[in-house]
Amino acid sequence: MTEKIFQIAIDGPAGSGKSTIAKAVAERLCIDYIDTGAMYRAFACKIKNSGIDMYDEAALEKLLDETDIDFSKGDTLLDGVKVNDIIRTPEISMLASKCSALGPVRKKLVALQQKMGESKSVIMDGRDIGTVVFPKAPFKFFLVATPEERAARRLKELIEKGEKTTLEEVLADIKQRDLQDTTRKITPLKKAEDAREIDTTSLSIEEVTGIVIEEVKKHGYCQTV
Ligand code: DC
Repeated sequence: MTEKIFQIAIDGPAGSGKSTIAKAVAERLCIDYIDTGAMYRAFACKIKNSGIDMYDEAALEKLLDETDIDFSKGDTLLDGVKVNDIIRTPEISMLASKCSALGPVRKKLVALQQKMGESKSVIMDGRDIGTVVFPKAPFKFFLVATPEERAARRLKELIEKGEKTTLEEVLADIKQRDLQDTTRKITPLKKAEDAREIDTTSLSIEEVTGIVIEEVKKHGYCQTV
């Protein structure tokens, strides 16, 4: 039986659990997971390596034209090179938040994301998936959690990766990124009116995954559930 193509949009601030939940749901539903934050992070890496001034529009457009961002078997590829780890540093987090406020960057990456999700079912996480990338997605979720809980989760991840940092530093970074992501002029982080909000502060990964899967199942979209 052919199944209907559908998109699940998962938006929310840094550390709200988007990628963990999206990965778990993708696995359960046998659909692709697309981490759009990784795409902004990969481009931030390209900006850093190139040394261009990202506010120089001509240089930015040229760099965008010369950039290829893709996913393969769970890896994030920048110009064909795996960048999974180097895009996760605090420096790249901040640069990704800054470059994601630029119109030409959003234009290119949003178009790429729409293409990735048009021919197959996907779960995509980011800041503008339910509002801009797939405004007609049949499933939209907006995850939230307190800044303290989000910082504690991020700290755990960073420490596991061998980064030396403190809860205070991570919390300050998260608050700064929240401010940048919610106040930027172009498509700031915002809950889509028809998105279901889930506060993940005191929920387990299984509980949040269960809420998302239940919703998909209820609407009979996926026969493999
Ligand atoms: O989800 P993340 O922390 O990996 O995202 C990194 C930055 O990219 C984030 O601070 C804002 C930006 N971003 C965005 O503007 N739009 C998206 N769809 C995804 C991420």
